[in-house]
Amino acid sequence: MERVTDQPDLSTTAGKIADLRARYQEAVVDAEAVAIQKQHAKGKLTARERIELLVDPGSFVELDEYVRHRTTAFGMDRSRPYGDSVVTGTGTIHGRTVAVYAQDFTTFGGSLGEVAGEKIIKVMEFALRGGMPIVGILDSGGARIQEGVVALGKYGEIFRLNTAASGVIPQISIIMGPAAGGAVYSPALTDFVVMVDKTSQMFVTGPDVIKTVTGEDVGMEELGGAYTHNTRSGVAHYLAEDEDDAIDYVRTMLGFLPDNNMSEQPAYEHEFEWETTDSDRVLNTIIPDSANQPYDIHQVIGHIVDAGDFLEVQPLFAPNIVIGFGRIEGRTVGIIANQPSQMAGTLNIEAGEKASRFVRFCDAFSVPILTLVDVPGYLPGTDQEWTGVIRRGAKLLYAYAEATVPLVTVILRKAYGGAYIVMGSKQLGADINLAWPTAEIAVMGGQGAVNILYRGEIKKAEEAGEDVAAVRTRLANEYTYNVASPFLAAERGELDGIIEPAQTRVAVAKALRALRGKRASLPAKKHGNIPL
Ligand code: HXC
Repeated sequence: MERVTDQPDLSTTAGKIADLRARYQEAVVDAEAVAIQKQHAKGKLTARERIELLVDPGSFVELDEYVRHRTTAFGMDRSRPYGDSVVTGTGTIHGRTVAVYAQDFTTFGGSLGEVAGEKIIKVMEFALRGGMPIVGILDSGGARIQEGVVALGKYGEIFRLNTAASGVIPQISIIMGPAAGGAVYSPALTDFVVMVDKTSQMFVTGPDVIKTVTGEDVGMEELGGAYTHNTRSGVAHYLAEDEDDAIDYVRTMLGFLPDNNMSEQPAYEHEFEWETTDSDRVLNTIIPDSANQPYDIHQVIGHIVDAGDFLEVQPLFAPNIVIGFGRIEGRTVGIIANQPSQMAGTLNIEAGEKASRFVRFCDAFSVPILTLVDVPGYLPGTDQEWTGVIRRGAKLLYAYAEATVPLVTVILRKAYGGAYIVMGSKQLGADINLAWPTAEIAVMGGQGAVNILYRGEIKKAEEAGEDVAAVRTRLANEYTYNVASPFLAAERGELDGIIEPAQTRVAVAKALRALRGKRASLPAKKHGNIPL
């Protein structure tokens, strides 16, 4: 819009339009020019630039650009910038509408006072009413110090709305600067948190407070940087190299997600090949002959999903389990798979919590789940027991048992003990359970079972001076063949079929097709009490 300098005549229509233009100029155009200077100097984009990158070009419709704070304390009334410290509105991503807000660090440090809170609350309520995903871009000094309890109260309202929206619309947070104090709990309540390497931090209490209270010396990056939250705490789901990468990840993710819990899955045109392909046949060669030899589960996933296109979630946290989204026949499927190349694919507390939250997300949004099993059991150790593997490990059982979306499970190799049950077993409610002929399903692995069942034989072999290792291996092989064979499970109907690995892609597609109309419900209750 043109710059209007003369005072407009407000008694005329032309004057009123000119006045609107002048105000828009001040509220958006001039404010943005200042923001660009400040943010670019720090190698960061402005709130509006971030939104423009996130949504389809030209699709952003801004809301509330004329709101202004009402605070008078600390001389705040001398500066009442239009729009306050957050930009809100709607736009489209891949043509589908999303709601978005982006905190503007150049205005009062992106801090959240009464009106910034009201803007966020309004756009969240709009998203809930319209049944569209919401993306929050955070870059803020937290509660506006000058506004005290009013600012805190707005956070409380936001947390309540985050909770109300949970399981109703997908909520994604992108952290592109500081998120400090209680403010971190809004992203924590959302479904996915993306952090930008080196420029984003999340912590409840900062380095200075920690130093004063506990004497610990820790830098901001080590305490709450993107790498820390992606690898150690599991707070974040993706470590973006830079702001562009973060936005790209979120756009890609939204392509996999439905708009809300009542809407259909996004479905894409895909020429599905129903015959076995060369790519399928690669699966016949992936499982090593030796049961202890690892392989990379990503290879398997890549040969099952459409065009090998898999969007991994939380790849750096608990890498012994892999979760993410793919498509089969053009429709989204959530994948949960043990990773034999990390800790032999054992389940531990972190893996259980990572997978259970993902199962619940998929279930809430009607995304069918494909589980790929190769798990030797739970990670043993006092550390696990004392940090609550019983309580925290129960979450994954709960999540699967409660899920009513189509559940398809394929056992590739090991499926031992409680880990067999938890990884999408028939008894927990899976609809179609398949196994490869390489599957081993039993209470425990061959070596462990031999130690208990054949203690006497091994002692005798020792006394007779025989090659004890060879005896053990023979007995373990016999056990595996006689007890752990997938055909025993198939004989009892615990499996619905045993397939060649090369048949997996087509078998899974047929199962998911058959389950498209699945209806299942749980007994009426206010809500369950998942172990937390
Ligand atoms: C008001 C704030 C502010 C805040 C920053 N600013 N945080 N104004 N309230 N919370 C202002 C600064 O005064 C400054 O204004 C401008 O924003 C930029 O801040 P700088 O400090 O110059 O930026 P930088 O050096 O990059 O440091 C960023 C920062 C730091 C690390 C975020 O500003 C900071 O520590 N702020 C306070 C963080 C905090 O403790 N917040 C409360 C958390 S508790 P001028 O005018 O100089 O440009 C919380 C409770 C939530 O949020 C409750 C939920 C229940």
